[in-house]
Amino acid sequence: GTTLGSAAARTGRYFGTAVSASKLSDSVYTGILSREFSMITPENEMKIDATEPSQGQFSYANADRIVSQAASQGARMRGHTLAWYSQQPGWMQSMEGSALRQAMLNHITQVASHYRGKIYAWDVVNEAFADGGSGARRDSNLQRTGDDWIEVAFRAARSADPDAKLCYNDYNTDDWNQAKTQAVYRMVQDFKSRGVPIDCVGFQSHFNSNSPVPSNYRTTLQNFADLGVDVQITELDVEGSGTAQANNFRTVTQACTAVARCTGMTTWGIRDTDSWRASATPLLFDGNGQKKEAYTAVLDTLNGG
Ligand code: G3I
Repeated sequence: GTTLGSAAARTGRYFGTAVSASKLSDSVYTGILSREFSMITPENEMKIDATEPSQGQFSYANADRIVSQAASQGARMRGHTLAWYSQQPGWMQSMEGSALRQAMLNHITQVASHYRGKIYAWDVVNEAFADGGSGARRDSNLQRTGDDWIEVAFRAARSADPDAKLCYNDYNTDDWNQAKTQAVYRMVQDFKSRGVPIDCVGFQSHFNSNSPVPSNYRTTLQNFADLGVDVQITELDVEGSGTAQANNFRTVTQACTAVARCTGMTTWGIRDTDSWRASATPLLFDGNGQKKEAYTAVLDTLNGG
């Protein structure tokens, strides 16, 4: 394949990127997007604050523009995200207890129903576990509604869009030996054993010098896949430049292609200047839209080289 999407498709995988609706008028951006990528995740436009800014008032215009772009270029969509402690609209931030639980369920039902049939995979729940060595759930208003909030969210999503793959998505879950990774693993194992509908686990994979690509990354992906779920690399970016950065991207790509149930990977933006942490120059295209050494490493790996 001569593009990321076509090279990934050689082995039945996708290659995606996060997209901002505000950049769809930039022809350099959309040129790379439509040429290279076969999966799109809205960077912010499907989050709770974007889709339900006032309680019961849903707002889909920006997300719908991204869905239209995906359709026009023949790409699929990852939905991000239905339930998260962050980027909640003000009305939700101030809620608790059964009223919040009900509002969360209504949100999931409404948004997943609006996009029914158009989403390959939903990040149903994002970042529900704490960092550090505790292996505990992250404290949040959603968590304080009861430990079962995650499985209830997945059941609501399944009812609203039975054909979408339903994912749990998190960061710092790449190293098999971390307590957070183990805690997510036990949750997925428990869900599978009790028939809670979960189809995939997303590994955000935001890597930098404090959080490098772990040597056991492939083992982590394989161990989760062995629970009977797909795994996806959902928000990949790697701080750095030149050959060192390219080698890290190669390692990540090799890990996905070595795991049969790693169905695809997504970078969290297109050009370095599009990144949420632009100073880290963490993406595959430079600010002018030129392919970086990291791009070539990923492409060659997807092509089996
Ligand atoms: O759109 C407003 C604009 O009107 C306003 O003038 C400006 C002033 O701050 O803010 C703009 O919104 C910002 C938005 O990005 C769009 O640029 C928000 O403040 C800012 O918080 C938001 O940041 C996003 C961040 O999630 C929020 O949590 C990043 O773009 C996005 O890349 C990042 O993505 C997350 C994933 O969802 C979950 N995993 C981690 C990842 C990186 O943090």
